[in-house]
Amino acid sequence: MADVANPLSIVSDLLAPVFADIAGRPDADPVVRPSDRADAQVNGALPLAKQMGTNPREVAQRVVDSGVLADVCSEVEIAGPGFINLTFTDTFLAAQLQSVALDDRLGCPPASTPRTVVVDYSAPNVAKEMHVGHLRSTVIGDALVRLHEFAGHRVIRENHIGDWGRPFGMLIEHLLDLGEDVAAEGLGQGDLDGFYKAANAKFNESTEFQERARDRVVLLQARDPETIEIWQRLVDMSNTYFQGVYSRLGVLLTDDDLAGESGYQPLMEGAYERLGKAGLLEENDGAQVVFAPGFTNRDNEPLPLIVRSSAGAFMYATSDLACVLDRIERLHADLLLYVIGAPQAQHLQMVFTVAEMAGWLRPPAEAVHIAFGSVLGDDRKMLRSRSGDSVKLSDLLDEAVERAAAAVAEKNPELDADTRAEVARTIGIGAVKYADLSNDRIKDYVFDWDRMLAFEGNTAPYLQYAHARICSIFRRAGADRIDLHGLAIVLGQPQERELAKRLLAYPTVVAETLAAYAPHKLCTYLFELAQDFSTFYEHCQVMQADEPVRSSRLALCDVTARTLEQGLGLLGIDAPEAM
Ligand code: ARG
Repeated sequence: MADVANPLSIVSDLLAPVFADIAGRPDADPVVRPSDRADAQVNGALPLAKQMGTNPREVAQRVVDSGVLADVCSEVEIAGPGFINLTFTDTFLAAQLQSVALDDRLGCPPASTPRTVVVDYSAPNVAKEMHVGHLRSTVIGDALVRLHEFAGHRVIRENHIGDWGRPFGMLIEHLLDLGEDVAAEGLGQGDLDGFYKAANAKFNESTEFQERARDRVVLLQARDPETIEIWQRLVDMSNTYFQGVYSRLGVLLTDDDLAGESGYQPLMEGAYERLGKAGLLEENDGAQVVFAPGFTNRDNEPLPLIVRSSAGAFMYATSDLACVLDRIERLHADLLLYVIGAPQAQHLQMVFTVAEMAGWLRPPAEAVHIAFGSVLGDDRKMLRSRSGDSVKLSDLLDEAVERAAAAVAEKNPELDADTRAEVARTIGIGAVKYADLSNDRIKDYVFDWDRMLAFEGNTAPYLQYAHARICSIFRRAGADRIDLHGLAIVLGQPQERELAKRLLAYPTVVAETLAAYAPHKLCTYLFELAQDFSTFYEHCQVMQADEPVRSSRLALCDVTARTLEQGLGLLGIDAPEAM
C-alpha cells in the first residue's frame, strides 16, 4: 500500500534518514504531526537535541538544510524553540489525492498484523425488554465490528445474552400457566417486560408458585429434557424479538452470533478446577474466591472475586472466566472486546486480572472493556418513558422513524409516499445511531430528538444530506462515478486545498478511531469534512467551471462522497444517493 501513503507518512519517510544521520542511530523519529498553523509540523528536533545536548533550532536548521523536502513543500519554516512548520505544494497534495481516488480503501492501509477479535456486544436478557443501555452496546459494538473487519482483522461477533439463571424457574412456570400460544403472542410482540413482571408478581404472591419455580430451576440445571425444551422456546421467542430490533437497526448480529450465558455453564466446572490447580482459590466465608491484587472494597479490604458460592453455585464471574477461556482456547482470539456499560467495570477488571493470574490471558492476547456512559433524559437523569419505566428500544425506534417522516415531509414535500417512508427510516435510524456514536462513549449523553434529527450540526441527517447533495451533482453532470476516479486533480483555490487536506487525513482518523475504540473520532471527522465540502461548494463552481478545473472538481466531489459513504458505513449508517 506504499503507493497510497498519506502526506504525513511520506514526509516522515523522507526525513527519517536525515534524523538518523544527525542522531547517529537509525531509529530517531522525526515526529511529524498535523498542525493548525501549517499543513504539518515536524517536532522531532526537540527531543533529539535534548539527547545530544545541543540547541534544537540548530538541529532543526540541519534538517531544513538537508533539502529533502524541496519537492513536496513550498515552505519550510523553523518556529519557536525548534519546531518545523511545513506547507505542502499544491501538486504534491493533488498527486496524493489522485492516488487515493484510485483506491477503493481511500488510502486506508490494511492492518499489518491481523488479529482475531471477539466483540461481545448487545447482550440483552431473555424475557426482559431491551433498554437504551443495550442500544448503546449494540450500536457501538456494531461500529467496532465494522471498523475491525475493514482493517482486515478476523472478527467474531458474540451476543452474550442473559439466558440462564434463577429467574428462568418462574419464567418457565409462568409460560406453562399461560399456555404457549398466549405467551408466544405477548413475547412475539415484544411485551417482554409484561411477561417478566407478571411472572414476578405471581412469584411474590403465591407460595405454591414459588415452590414450582424453585423445583423448575433444579430441573433446568439438571438439564431435564422437557424443561430444556420449554426453556429453549422461551429463549427463541425473545430472540425472534431481538432479531427484529437488530434488523430495524441494521446491525450485523444474527442468530449465528448468539453466545448466551447458558453455553458457558458446562465449561464452568473445568474453569473452576483449573483455578484450583493454579493455586488461586481461597476459602472466604464458605465461598471459593480468588483475591486479585489491587481490588479493595469501600473499607479498603481486599475484595474477593467469588467463583463458587457457599451454597456451591457458580457465579456470573465464573461464567465470564469460562468465557475468556473459550474465546482464547477454542476461538484463538487475541483481542477480546467487551462492549458493556461502565457499571460493570470492576467485575470485568477482576475477571481479566484473574484470567491473567491463571495464565489464560497472556500477551499478545488482551481483553478490553469498551465501557460507555448512560443515556439521560432532559432532566439529566436516566432516560425514562412518561410512565417512569425504562424506555423500550422498539418504541424509541418507532418514534425516531415517525419524527423523521414529519421532518422529511416538511423538507421535501414532493417525495412520493414509498420513497418518503424509506428516507424516513434511513434518517430516523441513522439519527439515533449517530447521536450515540458521535458522543465520546465513556460520557453520559442527553437524548434529544430535536438535536439528533436536525439537518444542521453534527448529526446523521446533515451528513446523509451532504452525501446525497453531492450525488445529485453527478446526476446533473451526467457523470459516471467510476469515470471520475482517474481524473487529474489540480488545486488552485484555498477551499479546494483545505478539502484535499481533509480528505487525505481520513486514513489517520480511521486508524485513531480504531486504536482508541472511539467511533466519535470518525464522526467528528465526517462532520468537519462535510463542512469543508460545503465551504468549497460555496466558493468553487463545479459544473460551470472550464476544463481541466471542472473535471478536477468533480473528482474532489467524488472522493468526498465516497469518504462520507464509507465513513458512515463503518459506523453502520446508510448514505443513500438520493433523499
Ligand atoms: N446480559 C448482561 C446485561 O444485560 C451483559 C452481558 C455482557 N457480557 C458479558 N460477557 N458479561 O447486563
